[in-house]
Amino acid sequence: MGVSRELSLAEVFQLGYYWETKILLTAVKLDVFSAIDAKPKTVQEIAGRIGADTSILGMLLNALVAMKLLSKNGDMFGLSATALTYLVRHAPQYVGHLLLLHDAEWNNWGQLEETVRTGRRAVDRHVFETNPELGSNVLAVLNRIGQQSGPNFAARLKLVGDERLLDLGGGAGTNAIAFCQAYPELRATVFDLAATLKLTEKTVKGAGLESRIALHPGDFNADPLGGPYDVVLMSDILHYQTFQMNQDLVKKAFASLTPGGRLIIKDRFLDETGTGPAWTTAFTIHILVNTQHGSCYKCSDAMRWLTTSGFGSIAELEKTAVVQGLKPSL
Ligand SMILES: C[S@@+](CC[C@H](N)C(=O)[O-])C[C@H]1O[C@@H](n2cnc3c(N)ncnc32)[C@H](O)[C@@H]1O
Repeated sequence: MGVSRELSLAEVFQLGYYWETKILLTAVKLDVFSAIDAKPKTVQEIAGRIGADTSILGMLLNALVAMKLLSKNGDMFGLSATALTYLVRHAPQYVGHLLLLHDAEWNNWGQLEETVRTGRRAVDRHVFETNPELGSNVLAVLNRIGQQSGPNFAARLKLVGDERLLDLGGGAGTNAIAFCQAYPELRATVFDLAATLKLTEKTVKGAGLESRIALHPGDFNADPLGGPYDVVLMSDILHYQTFQMNQDLVKKAFASLTPGGRLIIKDRFLDETGTGPAWTTAFTIHILVNTQHGSCYKCSDAMRWLTTSGFGSIAELEKTAVVQGLKPSL
């Protein structure tokens, strides 16, 4: 696909501009929004709460006013409605953890030039391994966001008649919960690292599904998966791994399925040209910079893992998003 229209010079500059990004991330890191909370405050009060230099904090707050996250009346700074809903720590819809993750990854991005020159990755461990608490908080935010799309995804997959689901690297249990809510006969196993399952235990309990969703702690690359299952789901786990690790995991999933069972892979796949979807091309660089050996793959890669493992009826159910294979019936 060619370039649909030329970028203007202003748009090129806009692409290269990150000042506001770092201002926002720093404000979240300093927890400026929670310090202000529902009642407007002076810069002195806010500086006292977060422990900051008053005159420099004033500059940051003024920029946040210009960015429409704060308002200023006389010398009082208040939160915008959006900041109050999403950026105050005790708010039920707080999303700051996701922004804290971006901030934690800031220095890795600084090494992109070096990575491109040498081919060597900047990190030897992902932030989910180095900071499981942050990882878990991020999963909790993603779970809240994912709850909106989960029921639709469950409906599209038509799991009627299936009884046993394995959600590999199921995280907060977002999909397992949505699937069990959509299909009353379904029972699920969420397989994930023990540290992650602490969060899953809470979400499953919150959904009242403890009797139908089992938690299985383990490393899916090293430990047995159990089974047999009617359906195995791999949702957003394969882009952290190498091609060969994914091939091995798909083989392992094949062995854990009952004949006639299916493996569903949901991920952020690149199209065959590698230049789209646009978000995924940038996500590929994010994965390059922030993981030891992750990568974004194409649907054709997933299809190769499935074919090599023995799956049939392989199909791209949703473009650059969902690929499925069936284990042949006996
Ligand atoms: C991006 S999250 C995806 C969560 C969920 N599947 C979803 O779609 O919302 C990746 C998950 O894989 C888990 N994970 C990563 N490596 C793993 C491993 N070797 N064994 C088990 N789980 C793993 C992480 O703990 C995390 O919950």
